[in-house]
Amino acid sequence: MKEAQPRTVYLKDYRAPDYLIDHTQLHFELEPQATLVKSTLGVRRNPAAESSGALPPLWLDGVDLELLSVAINGELVPAQRYRELPGGLEIDVPGENFELEICTRINPQANTSLEGLYLSNGMYCTQCEAEGFRKITYYPDRPDVMSLFTTTIVAPPTYPVLLSNGNKVASGTTDDGRLTVTWEDPFAKPAYLFALVGGDLQWVEDRFTTASGRDVKLQLFTEAKNIGKCAHAITSLKHSMRWDEEVYGREYDLDIFMIVAVDHFNMGAMENKGLNIFNSACVLASPETATDAAFQRIESIVAHEYFHNWSGNRVTCRDWFQLSLKEGFTVFRDAEFSADMNSRAVKRIEDVTLLRTSQFAEDAGPMSHPVRPDSYMEISNFYTLTIYEKGAEVVRMIHTLLGAEAFRRGSDLYFERHDGCAVTCEDFVRAMEDANGADLQQFRRWYSQAGTPVLEVTDAHDAASGTYRLTIRQFTPATPGQEEKLPLHIPVAIGLLDDKGQDLPIAEDGSGTVILHLTEAEQTFEFNQVATRPLPSLLRRFSAPVKLRYGYSDAQLQFLMQHDSDAFNRWDASQRLALNALSELQAQYRTGVPLQTPEQLIAGFRSVISDTALDPALVAKMLSLPSAQELAEQEGEIDAAAIIAARAFTRDALADALHDEFMARFKQLDIRKPYAPNAGDIAERSLKNTCLAYLCANGTAQALDLARAQLDRAENMTDSAAALAALVEFAPESEATTHLQAFYDRWQQDTQVVETWFGLQSSSANYGTLARIKQLMEHPAFEFTNPNKVRAVIAGFSARNFTQFHREDGSGFEFLADQVIALDKVNPQIASRLVTPLTRWQKYREEEGQKMRAAVQRVMESGELSRDLFEVVSKSLSTR
Ligand code: TRP
Ligand code: ZN
Repeated sequence: MKEAQPRTVYLKDYRAPDYLIDHTQLHFELEPQATLVKSTLGVRRNPAAESSGALPPLWLDGVDLELLSVAINGELVPAQRYRELPGGLEIDVPGENFELEICTRINPQANTSLEGLYLSNGMYCTQCEAEGFRKITYYPDRPDVMSLFTTTIVAPPTYPVLLSNGNKVASGTTDDGRLTVTWEDPFAKPAYLFALVGGDLQWVEDRFTTASGRDVKLQLFTEAKNIGKCAHAITSLKHSMRWDEEVYGREYDLDIFMIVAVDHFNMGAMENKGLNIFNSACVLASPETATDAAFQRIESIVAHEYFHNWSGNRVTCRDWFQLSLKEGFTVFRDAEFSADMNSRAVKRIEDVTLLRTSQFAEDAGPMSHPVRPDSYMEISNFYTLTIYEKGAEVVRMIHTLLGAEAFRRGSDLYFERHDGCAVTCEDFVRAMEDANGADLQQFRRWYSQAGTPVLEVTDAHDAASGTYRLTIRQFTPATPGQEEKLPLHIPVAIGLLDDKGQDLPIAEDGSGTVILHLTEAEQTFEFNQVATRPLPSLLRRFSAPVKLRYGYSDAQLQFLMQHDSDAFNRWDASQRLALNALSELQAQYRTGVPLQTPEQLIAGFRSVISDTALDPALVAKMLSLPSAQELAEQEGEIDAAAIIAARAFTRDALADALHDEFMARFKQLDIRKPYAPNAGDIAERSLKNTCLAYLCANGTAQALDLARAQLDRAENMTDSAAALAALVEFAPESEATTHLQAFYDRWQQDTQVVETWFGLQSSSANYGTLARIKQLMEHPAFEFTNPNKVRAVIAGFSARNFTQFHREDGSGFEFLADQVIALDKVNPQIASRLVTPLTRWQKYREEEGQKMRAAVQRVMESGELSRDLFEVVSKSLSTR
């Protein structure tokens, strides 16, 4: 009944379920504090059960439920035939087949964990992945139990919209005037894909005709005030449906597809069968209220959840260790979709930045785990960048190794072979092999081995014989619980540039890129007929999630920035150039010598800033310095003060030296035109606003005037938020406060804009930020029970404001510890995510690291922790 005590679950202990549930009938009577749930289950002994002999008792998971009755085959079961235990209910069974009826009562209003059935702004909604269904009723809450669901919802007429999975098969009114609706889902599914929504909602409707000519109704439900913010999500949905038909041959399978926008939500969105539920911030947008980044995020999340209908729902996971089976594959699918809809190179740069900044840090920290973990305490803690982003990289490498056509043959076989089943990562790899006669034996290590591999590359050229040799050495640092690492099968895409910057035709078809198959700890690759020494362009398109080391000179990097045919590597060269400069400056800071102007970096940036032949979005990315978090990830021992000083110095030096170029480019792009969130316009706005930020960093009155003017007349949120951010950062404090107040006054009715407004303030590098955040937490628009608000105000500071979070007095750490302790009582999933930056204390210089550790220790000793928080905090404290 209560949550079970923290225990570790191991993959090696997986056993098939003892019983299956052929059909599940649910009956809900919605009441804020006392919702009645009656479930009728068709139970059958699993022929594949691993426990033999007599009939074992039936185990049903359940948490925070009030049990009202248990009946079998229509007769009440006496209390001595079942046991309410921590975490669930054990029932003695009468035979191999029976009908079980269970009545429970739950309290949605008191549910602030946002798992199970809860209320958001008076609207009922559910979140069942991964283990939330057990907070609704007693059930075998595991993904390998797949059942046909029928759901009846009864509610007062003040909740006219009552939704669940599948097709609506009946509706009416009860004798006492309540509404009743019944939904039937024709596809068997695990409980984590169940959903229910009840509220006073409006909706927009559209239609989609599938490739085979079936007509599908599309609906997006939201509170009335947001009805004008639905168009972009509907367009994105139709694009996704078409794309999945064209690229994967996958059609939608129900007559109706519904999306619901919810303000209180732990993650981005959820792929419940036929009834996706979205965090409002990830689905609602209008030009006046949403930034370009929000528009693009919505497009990719709508696609992600839609794509799950095949990669996740039709073919699901056997157990939660296989989570990346659906998440890694689906992230790969949505990334390719976004690349096709927008700029492929820019999308790749964004994804690689996230990977390098956050996934690499995760893989080097106390929570490091393989793409297929071996164990967990709380599965919610494993919805990680490793499962999602590294998992997607692993699928991408299969795509690279096999080629697009072979990959499609593999995915066709996978969907055909496993349709309607709950399967494993191994099944996915085997389908890829079987469809193509391929051998991915060594490649499988990517699923079981944690940590970020390092590639060290050296080269040699022999002019006499015209041979060029690349030698690549690979190793993976030890991670908690995995001391020994084996060589991986790594696809390394490379090109060789001649002295004019042209690719040598090294591929069989005469093109300039080849994929090297690195399989040994050290391997040499030889190229013939190479007359003069080429410049290697390594790991093109970021063909593997590794750290690559090669001794590029600054001059070579500048050459690659201008000439590489691979747009990703042009950007990467700019980042390597910046990293060289920044690490030198950090060294100068540490030894106490005056910081030297980074001339090479300035020269490199100067060469791209005026290059009008390049995609402006790519220019903007090339001109952006690596974040402090990314710099920290590079260091063996992190010196926060050195990173902060080096980065601020570099930004100011660039702003100063390139002022005229930034101004010219800003003016050229500062044109008025109606807003459209297409790749071309987004690119121009991003470069314009990058220039504006540099100009304002320079602090001249003229630059601040540009920001004031832009804030004044902007007709879209991208431009107003960029101008406001620049003013908050660089204008005098009293002026910044005035702008912030005016912005709030204008937008206070709009939840999404208020979140942007919070985030802008919490991520300001100004010294007053921590004090301001404490004030913001008293603001009427702040809600401790709303994860978006908590993320905007608190995580905006702890995860995105390196400068102020790492104040030398440690007050940032103390603040975060206090918030985590308080939040754990409200929403454990969010508390355990929020504490992450502190848990990486091991990487910091002694003095700072000990302050961070003390904050983690204080969290640990604050009382009884949730299983979520206990796992990350205890793992942090036991790692050196
Ligand atoms: N499966 C969801 C996705 O698309 C993830 C998710 C949504 C989730 N809500 C959650 C995971 C709550 C854990 C808890 O990626
Ligand atoms: Zn997903």
